[in-house]
Amino acid sequence: TIPQHLAGKKVVITAGPTVEAIDPVRYLSNHSSGKMGFALAQACVEAGAQVTLVAGGKVALPTPLGVTRIDVLSAAEMLTTVQQCVSGEHPALLALTERTQDSTHQSLHKHEHEHGDCDCHDSPEPIEQQSLQDNSLQHADIFIATAAVADYRTEEAAPQKIKKTQDAMTLNLVKNPDILATISHAYPDMFVVGFAAETQDVEHYARGKLAAKDLDLIACNDVSRADIGFASDDNAMQVFFSERYNHDSITLEKANKDKIAAQLTSIIGEAIWQ
Ligand code: C5P
Repeated sequence: TIPQHLAGKKVVITAGPTVEAIDPVRYLSNHSSGKMGFALAQACVEAGAQVTLVAGGKVALPTPLGVTRIDVLSAAEMLTTVQQCVSGEHPALLALTERTQDSTHQSLHKHEHEHGDCDCHDSPEPIEQQSLQDNSLQHADIFIATAAVADYRTEEAAPQKIKKTQDAMTLNLVKNPDILATISHAYPDMFVVGFAAETQDVEHYARGKLAAKDLDLIACNDVSRADIGFASDDNAMQVFFSERYNHDSITLEKANKDKIAAQLTSIIGEAIWQ
């Protein structure tokens, strides 16, 4: 049996690349497969969490069982969607809460009916509706950003397909919002996990991002290694903690992403109870 480190916790995870339109048929993107984020979503569900997975680009992976998945394209869309998911106000989550309420009412009503405690004639009273509603609007407990968000987007996507009439052309790019830093700064009491892909000075850059984005934990992989990361099924990581935790870094040896995800989930589960 898997330890239920995250029982009752609400987790929001970003995964995959973002897609930034150039015109109606072309875009800027990257080779992120989404595998790490999807594996983490599954591991978090198995550890007892309620998981919302915001998948960017066109991730071609099946949705892990029990996970609420929302597909987006661009970084801007990912940010808006993550904000709604973290606050619990995304329509997909509200619909989920309504369904939970309905089934709770039905089973409560059935129970009372069977025990003769029910004085209704047909439809059940909205029992405990208020408390369920309030609970749905509590913000998420944990945010994990695995998405490879494009650093830049086109200033404006062309409304029509661009014709190849010029010998050279320039795309004007503007910086995308940092989803991880925006969410982390907006919810200081939430447990926030970032990822970093570095080719050199891994610890130095990881600690810089940990501080700049105000993270609790950062998982770092060395993308100069050809055998791990990005589209690979395997990964190897070094995990660094915020100074708040007074915790040494942890090395996760090369393993498939499902195993790395399970290990990371345990690390997160242990850290949130500290
Ligand atoms: O700054 P860098 O891109 O290396 O940071 C990586 C971390 O920040 C990852 O967790 C990534 O998902 C997140 N990030 C983000 N929004 C961005 C850029 C990065 O959420 N615009």
